[in-house]
Amino acid sequence: MDTNTLPAPATTALGLGTTGLVFGCDYNPEQWTPEVWAEDVALMREAGVNLVAINVFGWSHVEPRPGEYDFSGLDTVIELLHQAGIGVNLGTGTASPPPWLTTLHPEMLPMVADGTRRFPGGRQGFCPSSPVYRSHALALVRATAERYGQHPAVRLWHVSNELGCHNAYCFCDVSADAFRDWLRARYADVDSLNAAWGTAFWSQRYSAFDEVLPPRATLSFVNPAQTLDFDRFSSDQLLDHHRAEAEVIRQHSALPVTTNFMVAAHITALDYWSWADDMDVIANDHYLDHRLDRPEVELAFAADTTRGLARGGAWMLMEHSTGAVNWQPRNLAKAPGQMLRNTVGHIARGADAVCFFQWRASVQGTEKFHSALLPHAGRDSRTWDEVVALGSLVERLGELRGSRVVADVAVVFGWEVQWAADLEAHPTGDLRYLEQVHALYGALWDLGVGVDVVAPGAPLDGYAVVVVPELYLVRDEHAAVIDRFVAAGGTALVTFFSGIVDERDAVRTGGYPGAFRHLLGVHVDEFMPLPVGGTLALSDGSRGSLWSEPVALRGAEAVTTYAEGPLDGMPAVTRNTHGGGTAWYVSTVLEDDARRALLRRVLDGAGVRAGAAPAGDGVEVVRRRDDDHEWVFLLNHTDRTVHHDESGHELVGDHPVAGRTALAPGGTHIIRQDRKRS
Ligand code: GLA
Repeated sequence: MDTNTLPAPATTALGLGTTGLVFGCDYNPEQWTPEVWAEDVALMREAGVNLVAINVFGWSHVEPRPGEYDFSGLDTVIELLHQAGIGVNLGTGTASPPPWLTTLHPEMLPMVADGTRRFPGGRQGFCPSSPVYRSHALALVRATAERYGQHPAVRLWHVSNELGCHNAYCFCDVSADAFRDWLRARYADVDSLNAAWGTAFWSQRYSAFDEVLPPRATLSFVNPAQTLDFDRFSSDQLLDHHRAEAEVIRQHSALPVTTNFMVAAHITALDYWSWADDMDVIANDHYLDHRLDRPEVELAFAADTTRGLARGGAWMLMEHSTGAVNWQPRNLAKAPGQMLRNTVGHIARGADAVCFFQWRASVQGTEKFHSALLPHAGRDSRTWDEVVALGSLVERLGELRGSRVVADVAVVFGWEVQWAADLEAHPTGDLRYLEQVHALYGALWDLGVGVDVVAPGAPLDGYAVVVVPELYLVRDEHAAVIDRFVAAGGTALVTFFSGIVDERDAVRTGGYPGAFRHLLGVHVDEFMPLPVGGTLALSDGSRGSLWSEPVALRGAEAVTTYAEGPLDGMPAVTRNTHGGGTAWYVSTVLEDDARRALLRRVLDGAGVRAGAAPAGDGVEVVRRRDDDHEWVFLLNHTDRTVHHDESGHELVGDHPVAGRTALAPGGTHIIRQDRKRS
């Protein structure tokens, strides 16, 4: 088993008017004079840009006064791009309401949990449930779609921008009404809501839906089930807004419609598994996050997750950066070669469109120190040279179209799980869901193993191994998918604090880890999180941290035991035979080496080959494949030269390689190999 059998991909090739890959950018021509537009388009051609996102923040230009549209600037820019053979990714422009609208309707401004409203002056200053905002936004979308719905330059519709980036949660009275409607649809009657939310606790029983509020700021903890439902509602409201805009567009245009997702460590508000089916193209924005220990691992996780949203098919990187961003505490420049390596990192994991924010660096506004394809220095810059080289590489990589990423292992990940797992008042505040997911994913990254990130409940047929980090909230039917997978011969690795609650955030009784007790053959009667910095010796010489628990064996065997403290001699890592397969359980946080060693053992047992060994630590290895070829991507994230033994045609340098090949510090190789036919 070396390729997965995810359900039919949403898109096998993106199209978007190109025969190869897309190389594109955001462009904000309203920040520049018409003389600059002509120069920009000429330089875009020089760089090999073939798709440009415009009108993302165009509202106050296109509709300078209520109901008065002025498309003259957009007409000119679209025509210039069209004449140059560059496609348009047309924004609906609704992400940032103009000052006239918030002045006329201050009631549409978002309210935070403490009941105060946020002022205009930034962007996304609207309540997602506001009917006033919605009607003005849709009028703008209608006028824009009527005008450009049939324009030959337009290849894709770009709804709003990063829906929910700043305004995912609104706590105003309009939102409260919408929340109650959402709850009525979910629970039908208030007794069901009371049961689902466990309102017997702390005398919170409701006698009517009208008494229910969003989880506004309270003196104590808020009801966690209420918070969880508000998270679901908030994600649904923004999806509903996307649908409303898409519906208007589709009345005037047959072109694909999408919006840019934010699959990233610092954005958690949207359950994109529930959004994906609404997108004609799955598009993600990704920026390296230097607040994390291993930004390149998070990049890979985000890319694999985005491909999961595209059901294994091609997807679009709508935005990334040539260099520094402007919104982290320290905005690090990219080293020479790093932009190319990061871009290829996304392509390796299935992106057939790689685009940047933004074309020309702004000289005003909060993003003036954000990198761009054309920096303040202009063409006389390292960035420009690297951009032109990257453009020609992306053109060469057109041969990747239609190929698929090779993955034997599935990692189960869910935003809804994250919302629930990271709720307050849990056994330890030190446990963060995404950190646990990243830790396991990072070990697989180190081992060079192809990974698909899948939703809880997604079919697992075709995978050799499924990794299940901290699946705190799990529905019965989703737990059953993992159970059946193992029973049928698969291998699962489950980590602690999994299977604990159902979709209501209600605890499964009878012993932890609740839904997975039987699968794992263990029984836990108590959580024993460790104090800050506390660790426990394990029998293999490594140490566990953050969490421990008394694991009683109910069919499983101990693989590693605790070697000190109250759990001395009790199992820390276990293995259970379940039907025809094997289920491993890890009851503490392992050190990196121990985690890698364990995963290597699990993979070996399941017959999965680790791909990274020849190149060494810090070298990312990914494979894409079609019927005739395999492309091996080797990305050296270290500052030392490494070597590999992959032979074939190397596409970055565009020459053949054979035998032992050096890969320079920070370097990237993409090696095309013929597949042996059996
Ligand atoms: C997001 C937005 C862009 C821009 C970039 C800056 O991705 O979509 O408009 O603000 O961040 O990194």
